[in-house]
Amino acid sequence: MSANIFIADHPLIQHKLTLLRNEKTGSKQFRELIKEITELLCYEATRDLPLCEVEVTTPICTTKSKVVAGRKMAFVPILRAGLGMVDGALELVPAAKVGHIGLYRDPETLKPVEYYCKLPHDIHEREVIVVDPMLATGGSAIDAITLIKARSPLHIKFMCIIAAPEGLRALSEAHPDVQVYCASLDSHLNEHGYIVPGLGDAGDRIFGTK
Ligand code: PRP
Ligand code: URA
Repeated sequence: MSANIFIADHPLIQHKLTLLRNEKTGSKQFRELIKEITELLCYEATRDLPLCEVEVTTPICTTKSKVVAGRKMAFVPILRAGLGMVDGALELVPAAKVGHIGLYRDPETLKPVEYYCKLPHDIHEREVIVVDPMLATGGSAIDAITLIKARSPLHIKFMCIIAAPEGLRALSEAHPDVQVYCASLDSHLNEHGYIVPGLGDAGDRIFGTK
Protein backbone atom coordinates (compact mmCIF):
# COMPACT_ATOMS: atom_id res chain seq x y z
CA MET A 1 0.00 0.00 0.00
CA SER A 2 1.00 3.59 -0.65
CA ALA A 3 3.47 5.28 1.70
CA ASN A 4 1.15 8.31 1.67
CA ILE A 5 -1.23 6.93 4.27
CA PHE A 6 -1.16 7.09 8.06
CA ILE A 7 -3.76 4.83 9.71
CA ALA A 8 -4.37 5.77 13.33
CA ASP A 9 -4.68 2.40 15.06
CA HIS A 10 -4.95 3.87 18.57
CA PRO A 11 -7.43 1.78 20.62
CA LEU A 12 -9.59 4.80 21.50
CA ILE A 13 -9.92 5.75 17.84
CA GLN A 14 -10.77 2.18 16.82
CA HIS A 15 -13.38 1.90 19.61
CA LYS A 16 -15.05 5.16 18.58
CA LEU A 17 -14.94 4.10 14.91
CA THR A 18 -16.89 0.94 15.75
CA LEU A 19 -19.59 3.05 17.43
CA LEU A 20 -19.62 5.33 14.38
CA ARG A 21 -20.10 2.42 11.97
CA ASN A 22 -23.08 1.05 13.93
CA GLU A 23 -26.29 1.75 12.01
CA LYS A 24 -28.11 2.21 15.34
CA THR A 25 -25.94 5.21 16.32
CA GLY A 26 -28.12 8.34 16.06
CA SER A 27 -27.10 11.74 14.65
CA LYS A 28 -26.27 13.35 18.02
CA GLN A 29 -23.83 10.62 19.03
CA PHE A 30 -22.56 10.35 15.44
CA ARG A 31 -21.60 14.05 15.44
CA GLU A 32 -19.91 13.73 18.84
CA LEU A 33 -17.91 10.71 17.67
CA ILE A 34 -16.81 12.44 14.43
CA LYS A 35 -15.60 15.39 16.52
CA GLU A 36 -13.72 13.17 18.99
CA ILE A 37 -12.06 11.05 16.29
CA THR A 38 -11.09 14.22 14.41
CA GLU A 39 -9.37 15.60 17.51
CA LEU A 40 -7.36 12.41 17.86
CA LEU A 41 -6.50 12.30 14.12
CA CYS A 42 -5.53 15.96 14.17
CA TYR A 43 -3.11 15.22 17.00
CA GLU A 44 -1.30 12.84 14.60
CA ALA A 45 -1.60 15.11 11.54
CA THR A 46 0.09 17.97 13.42
CA ARG A 47 2.91 15.85 14.84
CA ASP A 48 5.46 17.42 12.46
CA LEU A 49 4.73 21.05 13.40
CA PRO A 50 8.06 22.79 13.99
CA LEU A 51 8.91 24.00 17.49
CA CYS A 52 11.10 26.81 18.77
CA GLU A 53 12.47 27.53 22.22
CA VAL A 54 11.28 30.37 24.45
CA GLU A 55 12.17 31.34 27.99
CA VAL A 56 9.54 30.71 30.65
CA THR A 57 9.62 31.43 34.37
CA THR A 58 8.05 28.71 36.47
CA PRO A 59 7.35 29.17 40.21
CA ILE A 60 10.78 27.54 40.69
CA CYS A 61 13.12 29.07 38.12
CA THR A 62 13.54 30.40 34.59
CA THR A 63 14.03 27.78 31.90
CA LYS A 64 13.90 27.21 28.16
CA SER A 65 10.78 25.49 26.88
CA LYS A 66 9.16 24.78 23.49
CA VAL A 67 6.27 26.40 21.62
CA VAL A 68 4.88 25.83 18.12
CA ALA A 69 6.95 28.00 15.79
CA GLY A 70 4.18 30.28 14.52
CA ARG A 71 3.17 28.01 11.66
CA LYS A 72 -0.12 29.28 10.18
CA MET A 73 -2.76 26.67 9.39
CA ALA A 74 -6.09 26.41 7.59
CA PHE A 75 -8.70 23.66 7.68
CA VAL A 76 -10.81 23.19 4.58
CA PRO A 77 -13.91 20.99 4.99
CA ILE A 78 -15.53 19.54 1.87
CA LEU A 79 -19.25 20.33 2.28
CA ARG A 80 -21.39 18.96 3.66
CA ALA A 81 -19.93 16.08 5.64
CA GLY A 82 -16.54 17.73 6.17
CA LEU A 83 -18.28 20.31 8.36
CA GLY A 84 -18.65 17.61 11.00
CA MET A 85 -14.87 17.54 11.42
CA VAL A 86 -14.24 21.29 11.77
CA ASP A 87 -15.02 21.71 15.49
CA GLY A 88 -12.71 18.85 16.46
CA ALA A 89 -9.87 20.26 14.36
CA LEU A 90 -10.33 23.78 15.76
CA GLU A 91 -10.33 22.38 19.28
CA LEU A 92 -6.67 21.44 18.72
CA VAL A 93 -5.65 24.42 16.56
CA PRO A 94 -7.93 27.31 17.55
CA ALA A 95 -5.94 29.91 15.59
CA ALA A 96 -6.45 28.12 12.27
CA LYS A 97 -8.58 29.75 9.56
CA VAL A 98 -11.35 27.79 7.86
CA GLY A 99 -12.09 27.68 4.13
CA HIS A 100 -15.04 25.86 2.57
CA ILE A 101 -15.37 23.87 -0.64
CA GLY A 102 -18.82 22.69 -1.69
CA LEU A 103 -18.85 19.49 -3.74
CA TYR A 104 -21.45 16.77 -4.08
CA ARG A 105 -21.19 13.46 -5.87
CA ASP A 106 -23.53 13.03 -8.79
CA PRO A 107 -25.28 9.77 -7.84
CA GLU A 108 -25.22 8.53 -11.46
CA THR A 109 -21.69 9.37 -12.56
CA LEU A 110 -20.14 9.47 -9.01
CA LYS A 111 -18.22 12.54 -10.27
CA PRO A 112 -17.95 15.57 -7.93
CA VAL A 113 -19.92 18.70 -8.82
CA GLU A 114 -18.57 21.99 -7.42
CA TYR A 115 -21.06 24.51 -5.99
CA TYR A 116 -19.04 26.64 -3.53
CA CYS A 117 -15.47 27.72 -2.86
CA LYS A 118 -14.37 30.28 -0.27
CA LEU A 119 -10.79 30.07 0.96
CA PRO A 120 -8.75 32.31 3.32
CA HIS A 121 -7.16 35.16 1.29
CA ASP A 122 -3.74 34.38 2.81
CA ILE A 123 -3.90 30.63 2.10
CA HIS A 124 -0.56 30.92 0.25
CA GLU A 125 1.06 31.47 3.70
CA ARG A 126 -0.69 28.51 5.33
CA GLU A 127 -0.43 24.76 5.85
CA VAL A 128 -3.76 23.29 4.78
CA ILE A 129 -5.55 20.23 6.12
CA VAL A 130 -8.53 19.24 3.95
CA VAL A 131 -11.17 17.39 5.99
CA ASP A 132 -13.92 15.02 4.82
CA PRO A 133 -15.03 11.86 6.66
CA MET A 134 -15.06 9.69 3.50
CA LEU A 135 -12.47 9.06 0.77
CA ALA A 136 -14.43 6.80 -1.60
CA THR A 137 -13.59 7.07 -5.33
CA GLY A 138 -11.32 10.00 -4.40
CA GLY A 139 -12.99 12.35 -6.90
CA SER A 140 -14.10 14.92 -4.31
CA ALA A 141 -10.74 15.02 -2.51
CA ILE A 142 -8.81 15.27 -5.80
CA ASP A 143 -10.94 18.17 -7.07
CA ALA A 144 -10.87 20.01 -3.72
CA ILE A 145 -7.09 19.72 -3.51
CA THR A 146 -6.71 20.87 -7.14
CA LEU A 147 -8.78 23.99 -6.31
CA ILE A 148 -6.64 24.72 -3.25
CA LYS A 149 -3.35 24.12 -5.08
CA ALA A 150 -4.33 26.82 -7.58
CA ARG A 151 -3.88 29.28 -4.65
CA SER A 152 -0.36 27.94 -3.84
CA PRO A 153 -0.61 27.00 -0.13
CA LEU A 154 2.59 26.00 1.69
CA HIS A 155 1.52 22.36 2.02
CA ILE A 156 -1.63 20.20 1.95
CA LYS A 157 -2.67 17.15 3.99
CA PHE A 158 -5.93 15.22 3.74
CA MET A 159 -7.68 13.94 6.87
CA CYS A 160 -10.64 11.54 6.72
CA ILE A 161 -12.26 8.96 8.97
CA ILE A 162 -12.51 6.08 6.47
CA ALA A 163 -10.63 5.63 3.18
CA ALA A 164 -11.26 3.09 0.41
CA PRO A 165 -8.26 1.59 -1.42
CA GLU A 166 -9.69 2.87 -4.74
CA GLY A 167 -9.82 6.46 -3.46
CA LEU A 168 -6.42 6.30 -1.83
CA ARG A 169 -4.88 5.03 -5.08
CA ALA A 170 -6.56 7.75 -7.17
CA LEU A 171 -5.60 10.51 -4.72
CA SER A 172 -2.01 9.31 -4.48
CA GLU A 173 -1.74 9.30 -8.29
CA ALA A 174 -3.30 12.75 -8.73
CA HIS A 175 -1.55 14.38 -5.75
CA PRO A 176 1.45 12.26 -4.69
CA ASP A 177 2.64 15.05 -2.36
CA VAL A 178 -0.49 14.86 -0.16
CA GLN A 179 -0.30 12.72 2.98
CA VAL A 180 -3.56 11.03 4.03
CA TYR A 181 -4.51 10.57 7.70
CA CYS A 182 -7.41 8.23 8.51
CA ALA A 183 -8.81 5.89 11.14
CA SER A 184 -9.37 2.97 8.76
CA LEU A 185 -8.55 1.75 5.27
CA ASP A 186 -11.66 -0.32 4.47
CA SER A 187 -12.13 -3.18 2.03
CA HIS A 188 -13.58 -1.76 -1.23
CA LEU A 189 -16.37 0.26 -2.87
CA ASN A 190 -19.73 -1.29 -3.69
CA GLU A 191 -21.56 -0.80 -7.02
CA HIS A 192 -23.03 2.51 -5.75
CA GLY A 193 -19.62 3.89 -4.81
CA TYR A 194 -20.18 3.40 -1.06
CA ILE A 195 -17.34 2.23 1.14
CA VAL A 196 -17.64 -1.38 2.41
CA PRO A 197 -18.07 -1.91 5.32
CA GLY A 198 -17.94 1.90 5.82
CA LEU A 199 -20.53 3.78 7.82
CA GLY A 200 -23.10 4.67 5.17
CA ASP A 201 -23.70 8.22 3.94
CA ALA A 202 -21.68 10.45 6.26
CA GLY A 203 -23.53 13.68 5.39
CA ASP A 204 -26.95 12.12 5.93
CA ARG A 205 -25.91 10.60 9.25
CA ILE A 206 -24.37 13.86 10.53
CA PHE A 207 -27.32 16.05 9.51
CA GLY A 208 -30.14 13.49 9.87
CA THR A 209 -31.25 13.91 6.28
CA LYS A 210 -32.33 10.36 5.61
C1 PRP B 1 -19.51 12.28 0.34
C2 PRP B 1 -18.30 12.46 1.23
C3 PRP B 1 -17.24 12.94 0.28
C4 PRP B 1 -17.60 12.19 -0.98
C5 PRP B 1 -16.64 11.04 -1.10
O1 PRP B 1 -20.10 13.49 0.06
O2 PRP B 1 -18.53 13.35 2.29
O3 PRP B 1 -17.27 14.33 0.04
O4 PRP B 1 -18.94 11.70 -0.83
O5 PRP B 1 -16.86 10.37 -2.30
P1 PRP B 1 -15.77 10.33 -3.47
O6 PRP B 1 -14.46 10.03 -2.82
O7 PRP B 1 -16.28 9.22 -4.33
O8 PRP B 1 -15.79 11.66 -4.17
P2 PRP B 1 -21.45 13.60 -0.80
O9 PRP B 1 -21.12 13.78 -2.24
O10 PRP B 1 -22.36 12.48 -0.44
O11 PRP B 1 -22.04 15.00 -0.34
P3 PRP B 1 -22.56 15.46 1.09
O12 PRP B 1 -21.36 15.58 1.99
O13 PRP B 1 -23.18 16.78 0.79
O14 PRP B 1 -23.54 14.44 1.60
N1 URA C 1 -19.77 9.07 0.67
C1 URA C 1 -20.28 8.66 1.85
O1 URA C 1 -20.84 9.46 2.62
N2 URA C 1 -20.13 7.36 2.17
C2 URA C 1 -19.53 6.47 1.38
O2 URA C 1 -19.42 5.29 1.74
C3 URA C 1 -19.02 6.92 0.14
C4 URA C 1 -19.15 8.23 -0.19
